[in-house]
Amino acid sequence: MFPAHRPRRLRRTAAIRRMLRETTLSPADLIYPMFVLEGQGTRKEVPSMPGCYQESVDKLLESAREVFSLGVPAVILFGIPSRKDELGSEAYNPQGVVQRAVRALKEALPELWVITDVCLCEYTSHGHCGLVKDGEVLNDPTLELLQKEALSHARAGADMVAPSDMMDGRVGAIRKALDEEGFSQVGIMSYAAKYASAFYGPFREAAESTPQFGDRRSYQMQPPNRREALREVALDIQEGADVVMVKPALAYLDVIAEVRRSFQVPVAAYNVSGEYSLIRAAGRLGWVDEQAVMMETLTAIKRAGADLILTYFAKEAARLLQG
Ligand code: PBG
Repeated sequence: MFPAHRPRRLRRTAAIRRMLRETTLSPADLIYPMFVLEGQGTRKEVPSMPGCYQESVDKLLESAREVFSLGVPAVILFGIPSRKDELGSEAYNPQGVVQRAVRALKEALPELWVITDVCLCEYTSHGHCGLVKDGEVLNDPTLELLQKEALSHARAGADMVAPSDMMDGRVGAIRKALDEEGFSQVGIMSYAAKYASAFYGPFREAAESTPQFGDRRSYQMQPPNRREALREVALDIQEGADVVMVKPALAYLDVIAEVRRSFQVPVAAYNVSGEYSLIRAAGRLGWVDEQAVMMETLTAIKRAGADLILTYFAKEAARLLQG
């Protein structure tokens, strides 16, 4: 008891605080999300996500070089096709934007770990993550298209695919398709506990993937549920997921912690667009110290149990961490 115990003794100087830091962030923890466009020489800033861009493949290469040189080992790619249809055909076109971007990245930066988002919402005219019939998002017929998409990413050279659609059985279906075609070394990072979240708003502007009718609540999880997240994660691991993701991160730190405690696979957390934009906006207004809030946020996500963090702050955070 006090006065024998004085926790402040261990906080007195910067040196002792550094020695006793329980959580340290490293650029190697970070994955940078990137948006790829058709065309040449294009770099368009996303209005609701200052500092984030839609880029054509040539510009994307320049940005990826910068990201990699800052010590960030991985990127995740989202495609913005110029043509959308009911079946999301551009998602599995061997000459699609993501496929071309993957080939270019792996050629220029073979050591960069290239992850691709596997989903249909950016490619379908209705903006849903699966096939739609009579206003309903169909599960099983969507699996075939996701298999084709994942395979085309693997053929282009992707190191890991990340299904974000939340259809049941997609991890198993993709694992099977990859293995049958000789891609047993291509990993799967599943968006395992993905919630139907209002924090995705800015992303939908960036990826041009807003659903044209309804919402995603019949396939993404409802925010109040935690047990269900553990069930989703368990199923994805059984089906062959190498890494499981919780998304969003900040309002779901309890879920990240619980997943970390309950399973032995690496856990990723997606610090999503809305979480990024809120900090950016408050920073612009001068209401918070943006850099400090960014680092505190990322550290908290790691402290909760995430091994990996997908974040639009990757470049800036890595720059700060490198001093
Ligand atoms: C596609 C997908 C979404 C995000 C990642 N993959 C949007 C959605 O489900 O509507 C969100 C990422 C972010 O907000 O940063 N299904």
